[in-house]
Amino acid sequence: MARLFVNVDHVATIREARKTLEPNPLSAALLAERAGAHGITIHLREDRRHIQDNDVYNIKQGITTPLNLEMAPTQEMVDLALKVKPYQISLVPEKRQEITTEGGLDVISQEEVLSGIRQKMHANGILFSLFIDPDLEQVKACQRIQADSIEINTGTYTELDSSEAIKLELDRIQKSCTQARELGLKVFAGHGLNYHNIKAIAQIEEIEEFNIGHFIVGQAVYVGMENAVKEMIRNIEMARGQKI
Ligand code: PXP
Repeated sequence: MARLFVNVDHVATIREARKTLEPNPLSAALLAERAGAHGITIHLREDRRHIQDNDVYNIKQGITTPLNLEMAPTQEMVDLALKVKPYQISLVPEKRQEITTEGGLDVISQEEVLSGIRQKMHANGILFSLFIDPDLEQVKACQRIQADSIEINTGTYTELDSSEAIKLELDRIQKSCTQARELGLKVFAGHGLNYHNIKAIAQIEEIEEFNIGHFIVGQAVYVGMENAVKEMIRNIEMARGQKI
């Protein structure tokens, strides 16, 4: 069973370009749901460059599918997550200067802190996921701190040009997914995915959830949100050989 979570951050990016009220990421989330998205993802960044605090509350209230809240492992974000109570939080590393998330979390170097956050989320019925690079040692660390799931960073894979390098990266991703599943972790994937590069990723049967944002919002400019989401679902289904 695979699920598509649609990330609507960049609907807010367009709105914030003018600091007005439109377009509204909640409206986009509702259209994504109508098109068959299984959940909605948003990333509340420390610098509030796209999603704002109000959006988090409005989207949590307004959608009917699960909300996955991406956030940095900071006290401010932990406090907010405990107020909002999303279905799931996904911890990501965050740097102010970066254009988008660059690389996965280094779980190994902060197991104690992350484990503390995991305990707080579980005490409040919130699932706990960690965005990591396809690295076997990071996968093991995620299991040690009793995460529910990992999200494999597909960003490197999506940026490679040579077929040899792509093959090697897909092999790393597959090995990490296999190991995570063996250790009892659920496996998700995301970053940089589009209609073309999703194919090889969707064929990895361990992956249960895909988080896709920028490309879908970009396509929505041409064909509308619903069509863009439906087309992504169709691509995942074709690669999997099954309905999702
Ligand atoms: N997963 C994580 C952890 C992310 O930080 C992002 C970007 O916000 C995505 C998935 C979605 O990536 P993209 O917008 O490139 O589809």
